[in-house]
Amino acid sequence: MCGIVGYIGARPAAGLLLSGLESLEYRGYDSAGIAVMENEKISVAKEKGRLAGLREVLDTSPLSGNIGIGHTRWATHGVPSVKNSHPHTNTDGTIAVVHNGIIENHEALKDYLQKKGYSFKSETDTEVIPHLIDYYYDGDLLSAVRKAAEKLDGSYAIGVISSKEPDKIVAVRKDSPLIVGLGKDGNFIASDIPAILSETKDVYLLNDNEFVTLTKSGVAITDADAKPIEKEIFKVQFSAQASQKEGYDHFMLKEIHEQPVAIRNTLRGRLDKDLKLNLDNLKFSDDIEKLYIVACGTAYHAGLVGKKAIETLAKLPCEVCLASEFRYGDPLINKNTAVLVVSQSGETADTLAVLRMAKKLGNTVYAITNVVGSSVAREADYVFYTYAGPEIAVASTKAYTTQLVAFYLFAIHLAELKNTVRQSELDDMKNELLHLDEVVSDILKSDDEIKKLAADIAGERDIYFLGRGLDYFVAMEASLKLKEISYIHSDAYASGELKHGPIALIENGTVVISICTNPEISNKLNSNVKEVTARGAKTIGFTACLSDTAAYNEIIKLPQVDPLLAPLPAIIPLQLLAYHVCTAKGFDVDKPRNLAKSVTVE
Ligand code: G6P
Repeated sequence: MCGIVGYIGARPAAGLLLSGLESLEYRGYDSAGIAVMENEKISVAKEKGRLAGLREVLDTSPLSGNIGIGHTRWATHGVPSVKNSHPHTNTDGTIAVVHNGIIENHEALKDYLQKKGYSFKSETDTEVIPHLIDYYYDGDLLSAVRKAAEKLDGSYAIGVISSKEPDKIVAVRKDSPLIVGLGKDGNFIASDIPAILSETKDVYLLNDNEFVTLTKSGVAITDADAKPIEKEIFKVQFSAQASQKEGYDHFMLKEIHEQPVAIRNTLRGRLDKDLKLNLDNLKFSDDIEKLYIVACGTAYHAGLVGKKAIETLAKLPCEVCLASEFRYGDPLINKNTAVLVVSQSGETADTLAVLRMAKKLGNTVYAITNVVGSSVAREADYVFYTYAGPEIAVASTKAYTTQLVAFYLFAIHLAELKNTVRQSELDDMKNELLHLDEVVSDILKSDDEIKKLAADIAGERDIYFLGRGLDYFVAMEASLKLKEISYIHSDAYASGELKHGPIALIENGTVVISICTNPEISNKLNSNVKEVTARGAKTIGFTACLSDTAAYNEIIKLPQVDPLLAPLPAIIPLQLLAYHVCTAKGFDVDKPRNLAKSVTVE
């Protein structure tokens, strides 16, 4: 987490750094800071909390200068405070560093440096870096950064400026994202493309252990042995506008409404109107007997639906694993397994680590990701891009639905390769897939109804979600959406499990939301709803099974589609519900407390 940015060029740096940090705030917003080279001296401004606080500090005491680095923090080591905010400096303030990642051996390095006479001001792991660079500095900043990096364990994207060499920024990455932007009148570093998109679409995507020296006129990239590296310029395909709110009150609402387009974009070129699937670039060996689907957060929930789709259509056994668990769970990877990682950002530390582990063990790795050029995209053997466009709100919406589309296409592709299901059945499903965008557009029209429901439940302390089969996975995602932005305690249960514990939580008036998309199992769910009703629950049904709705206090109608595809339209009103509950409570929709969009630490 954390976002870093840097600028060197002809223009005043502070404003550019602030606008870059604004786009990176989704990565963390516990504090922000910048360091700018003013008359060959480094000046630092920092503030606790959101970027707006730093803006106020800079309004009162502006920093001038054309070279600078900036940081927006998601606290790991040390509480959010000015003291712990980046940039961190060496003792005499001649070296300033911004860092995204975690230095795992910082205690040992701190000990070592303290013995050499260095003293520390913050509780952060990062502070060892400027001191270490200072320790190794003998007239060449790049070489001092290289020597310091050699000593660092863990993950880092680092930007460094020094008044001893006031004409450059030095940067390096290992296991944390970093890109270089090539502007008309200056050059940039940033954790992510949107931070520099208003300035340039020409970027270098850095790999691990690549060192960059930026000057006003150029960019030099070298490896750990100081050998020059030639890189191709990567042309960004989306516009800066795609990262703006475009009239919506919040990014989350904009992204919810973008889903029909995002779904179309994900299908485009892969599924023709004549129902021909074009995924021949995703090779799949006959030897693969099991697929591990690995992800975190919302992407994990997409994986649960994906497993069902792949098992139903392609008859290939799948296991869905949380990346943070899979890594240390001694998984039974062998020559007959393959791994499919799912990651919107393509940078989630645990997911990336699984990808690398699987590759090391010789497994083929497939990736579903939204970010072109991300680490996951570059390192996987086969990549399926979701083309949802930039997702800025921390609560994922369009990334999730396009991940589902990716899974459906992947499952149909495998089914066709393996010849496991009648072609007519697959064609019916393809046909429905081609119309899912319209189904989603229709549901989005129920916004007013959902808003009313949200107002009714916004005051609740606990809300439970129930579902069976695929609807349980929808319930899990709905519950995550609600809790992460409204801070209402919420859990999702497989409805059949209720009697084994959770029903003890039901009191008079407890809100229970049930999801029912599959008429074949609706009777079972209805029995469970009656059980909670009998215990005083207020029940709300999001249902496509309208024949038996007597058990519910309120109903939101879901469309009838193929049960396998149903999780996609079903989640839309539940995303809207979470959104409206959050706005009814007056919380920050796009930047919920304690969270960050891209989790680049383990
Ligand atoms: C964070 C985000 C979630 C996201 C998860 C995985 O927790 O807040 O929205 O689902 O990371 O992110 P990824 O980029 O790997 O999909």
